[in-house]
This record gives sequence, C-alpha cells and structure tokens, in this order.
Amino acid sequence: MNIGNLIVKDGVLLAPLAGVSNRPFRVLSIKAGAAFTYTEMISSEGIIRNQDRTKEMMGFKPDEQPIGIQLFGSDPKVMEQAAAITVKEFNPDLIDINFGCPVKKVVSKNGGSAILRDLALTEDIIKGTVAGAGDTPVTIKIRTGWDEANPVFEKVGEIAQRAGAKAVSLHARSRAKGFSGNADWNSIKKLKQAVDITVIGNGDIKTPQDVIRMKEETGCDGVMIGRAAMGNPFIFQQINHYLKTGDLLENPSMREKIEMARLHAQLMKEQFGEERGAKMMRRYLGWYIKGFRGASELRPILFGANTIQDIDSVFEDYLNNKLDILAHEKNNIDKKIN
Ligand SMILES: Cc1cc2nc3c(=O)[nH]c(=O)nc-3n(C[C@H](O)[C@H](O)[C@H](O)COP(=O)(O)O)c2cc1C
Repeated sequence: MNIGNLIVKDGVLLAPLAGVSNRPFRVLSIKAGAAFTYTEMISSEGIIRNQDRTKEMMGFKPDEQPIGIQLFGSDPKVMEQAAAITVKEFNPDLIDINFGCPVKKVVSKNGGSAILRDLALTEDIIKGTVAGAGDTPVTIKIRTGWDEANPVFEKVGEIAQRAGAKAVSLHARSRAKGFSGNADWNSIKKLKQAVDITVIGNGDIKTPQDVIRMKEETGCDGVMIGRAAMGNPFIFQQINHYLKTGDLLENPSMREKIEMARLHAQLMKEQFGEERGAKMMRRYLGWYIKGFRGASELRPILFGANTIQDIDSVFEDYLNNKLDILAHEKNNIDKKIN
C-alpha cells in the first residue's frame, strides 16, 4: 500500500489509541508484525506552546516505525505551525489529523469529530497541515459523520484529496454511535469508490478472517485495528500468518500471555519508570489476564503492585501456584463439586 511516496508493507495498521498506543505498546505491536503505528492523538495547541507532556507523547525510536504522529485541533494556522514543528523536531513517516474523536473534552473545543460539522473548516485544517508538513505525507482519520442523519465521509474524502492529503482512514461509525452497534463497512466501500487516494478501513476487525473479509467487501487499500490489539499484540502475528498461508495460528497460551505482559511491563519501566510505569500498566494487565484461572482475584493483587518489579513477582508467584487466590479458587471448585 502506498501513502503518497511512502510504501507500507502488507499487514494491518495499529490504530491511534489515546492512553494506550504509547511507546511500549507500539514496540510490541511492530515486533509482532504491525505494518504501521500511530502515536496517541496530540494537541496542536500543546505543540505550539511547547508543553513537556505533549512533547513526551511525540517521541519515538526506529523500533516503532513506520509511525504517524496524530494531531488534533480546530485552528488551521495552529495546525500548520504544529505540523511544521512536528516534522522539524520528530520527523515521523506521516502526520495524521484526527477528525474522528468523539470525546467531550476534544469536541467541546471543536476538535476531533466536531469538525465534521463544518466542511469549510475541515478543508482549511487539512490545507494548513499540508502546508506545515512540507514533504511529509498528511493523512486524515474520520468517522462517517457527526450523526447517522448526516453522513459526510465521501465529501470529506473528496475535500481531503483536493487539499493534498494522501490517505483517509475511516472508522465506519458516526460520532453519535460511539462504539455501539456494528461498524458499517459499506461506507468504506463507498469512500473507496469516491476517492483516488488511499483508503484505510477501520472498525470491528476481531480476527484474521475479518481482515480478508473487509478487504473483499470494501476494496479498501489497508486495514487498521484498535481494540482487538489491546492486551493482544499476538493478533498481528496471527493476521500475518493467515494472510501468508491461509492457516490460523493457535491462540497464545497463558504462559505466552504472561511472558508478553512481563516484557510489556519492562518496557513501561524503561519509558515511564518503576512507579508511574506500574500505574500505567494496570489497564494492560487487566486485558492480558482476561480468562485466566482466578483472574478476578489476581486482578486486585496486580493492580495493588506499586512497582514493575512487584508486578513481575506477582506473575512469578502466580506461575508457581504460590498465590493464595489459587487456593481460594480450589476451595470454591471443591465446594461446587461437593
Ligand atoms: C481506548 C481508545 C482510544 C482511542 N484513541 C483514539 C485516538 O487517539 N485517535 C483516533 O483517531 N482514534 C482513537 N480511537 C479510535 C480507534 O483508533 C479506532 O478507530 C476504533 O477503536 C475502531 O477500531 P476497532 O474496532 O478496531 O477498535 C480510540 C479508541 C479506543 C478504544
């Protein structure tokens, strides 16, 4: 797949995920075979004000590449400046504009999906970003529209193409739908028919077979996954294997999941330190241990760990059956049997 002059290898892209797709998660995803990663969405205002937390979220290393930095904002001039700073200081493979975020904090400042209500502003924001980005390709990520009654994705696709964007990613739901119902893949097909630039389909991919199905049903050039990768970098390997051979890999065992969680925790420590890393690791741990024996008892023990080292020890004890929870669980099972 091409995005402007950038060539992206076969496979699927890891979606931008605020609060999730930070460096450790991106490293693991690329290692598992993701074709591309994005940063979390970054405030254009934060960039031009040179805010430390904003800049911290923009940094990356070659082992997370190819990578796009995703910006949001509602002022074309600010977006232009922010894009120029992004290229000069970070030089990502592309800059993506977030036109899809439904979160109140972003929408109330007219960012994210709110812009889908003002197509003239949408065009100015893309033009500004393209001007600031210079030779770096600019892409956009959208939902189908503000609400079901007003689908604008085809119009926005045409606007993006005219304004110099090189690809459009479509999460095939309106802003109003949030994450409810099914994504409407037919809108991805319609977008593909409406524009010549690259179209990346997104929404509800859960299995390797879904990737093929989305490509066949919509004709999209690329596929992006979000929630299916959360606590599950294995999905990239499974998808690549299926695309290459047509065979399905077995799901990872509990030991493999724990190995991945421990590696993830080490990367969190390197990036954010023992204590901040441990706090930030909690949500991922919840995903990794889903379905484990005694998961509901294991979860609070892991969440109570204040350092990455403690998390590691909890897993070690769990693997060696040293945690009380397993005894509790055994009692419960014994009670049920008797
Ligand atoms: C926790 C979370 C954070 C997200 N953050 C962003 C974001 O920063 N930028 C963005 O464009 N989309 C964001 N999204 C939307 C995803 O990129 C993606 O479009 C959506 O999850 C649908 O894909 P999926 O069905 O594969 O999860 C987020 C979604 C989730 C669940």
